[in-house]
Amino acid sequence: MTNRMWGGRFAGTPSEIMEEINASIAFDQRFFAQDIAGSKAHCAMLAETGIISAEDAAEITGGLDRIQRDMEAGAFTFSRALEDIHMNIEARLAELIGPAAGRLHTARSRNDQVATDFRLYVRDTVDHLDEQLAGLQRALAKKAAAHADTIMPGFTHLQTAQPVTFGHHCLAYVEMAARDRGRFADARRRMNESPLGAAALAGTSFPIDRDMTARTLGFDAPMRNSLDAVSARDFVLETLATAAIAATHLSRFAEELVIWSSAQFRFVRLSDRFTTGSSIMPQKRNPDAAELVRAKAGRVIGALATLMVVMKGLPLAYSKDMQEDKEPAFDALDTLSLAIAAMTGMVEDMEPDREAMRAAAAHGFSTATDLADWLVRVLGLPFREAHHVTGSLVSRAEQAGIDLKDLPLAAMQEVEPRITDDVFSVLSVEASVASRESLGGTAPDNVRREAERWLKALKG
Ligand code: ARG
Repeated sequence: MTNRMWGGRFAGTPSEIMEEINASIAFDQRFFAQDIAGSKAHCAMLAETGIISAEDAAEITGGLDRIQRDMEAGAFTFSRALEDIHMNIEARLAELIGPAAGRLHTARSRNDQVATDFRLYVRDTVDHLDEQLAGLQRALAKKAAAHADTIMPGFTHLQTAQPVTFGHHCLAYVEMAARDRGRFADARRRMNESPLGAAALAGTSFPIDRDMTARTLGFDAPMRNSLDAVSARDFVLETLATAAIAATHLSRFAEELVIWSSAQFRFVRLSDRFTTGSSIMPQKRNPDAAELVRAKAGRVIGALATLMVVMKGLPLAYSKDMQEDKEPAFDALDTLSLAIAAMTGMVEDMEPDREAMRAAAAHGFSTATDLADWLVRVLGLPFREAHHVTGSLVSRAEQAGIDLKDLPLAAMQEVEPRITDDVFSVLSVEASVASRESLGGTAPDNVRREAERWLKALKG
């Protein structure tokens, strides 16, 4: 049998392989609810404008409701021969209500239909990701409040740089997540316009009311150009770009957790809930969840690259290539959602080792900058000269195999005779972090205030 939806001009049937390469039902069935919502909005509009009768509209709506219930219950049999979710639903509708079903597709094409469904789906997903990111922020801000004065080494080049607080480090990721949420919100705002009513590509000769369908579906407005409406996938690209950036942030933190949980660092202990053992080495607690969050970022980035390449050569308007937008998008958004959940769990459970962190922070001449700053503040040296003097002191301490704070005053005075006892007051890691009170600095008071501000903003 030729295809009932478009088989009028066909005598033969598609090959098995054609059916396989052409069908999207295996993956687009996941937005059946959006497809049905779109159809109901379209149907109500067709009745309101007198394009179809109120009786037909009532039958169509009733049939769609029944299909939705069956799909929700998993009691719907999808057919690959019917290609996609749109035709599976319409064919079933015809079985249920007969000829009236054929009126639903008046003034509509699968091109504006799929564009509408996908926008609705991505919009819902973005809303869910936003909630998840807020949850991650809350978990991080709580850790930050609890560890506002837990001292750890801050790194540049992964070399000890200056002491910071663990809370400050956590809040850095809260800020990143805030920007990720901002990007999702921007993407959402731009995507929230309705393609429905663009029909195949040129609009329609029926007196449709696009404002009405847009409003019903929660869109801010109808898209202004029918060619753009069916061709645009930048809403997916923008969402995937945002997802890729968010996944990159998670991956950086995951990398830190992998390093920090190692026997060499021992900065944090990850919980049993987010680690695994080795089948041969009994001592192991592997940070698998963190490693997978790190690796999964690659998948999300890959999805963005995939869809960019699919879209970049396509002339207007719809081409079947665009059916390939769904799998990478679903995979990337599912993956990001799982990565956020795993990261949130790891953060909630992780236990920083205060002693190990403090000890590491005190090594590697981490307060050398504080010494240079003291020379500037107390002796009035220009910073460049203070930097040089401090360098010589570090070198002496290094040769003696001791920390800066253990260098005798006399040894310091050999380098700079005006140095006094007072210098030792700035050489402890506690004094160092406490002094970083500039806006955005790591001082415990700052961190406590910022953590509280975030917790209030996130209502945690
Ligand atoms: N399954 C198709 C997709 O995902 C729906 C649109 C089909 N339109 C068409 N003209 N063949 O893109």
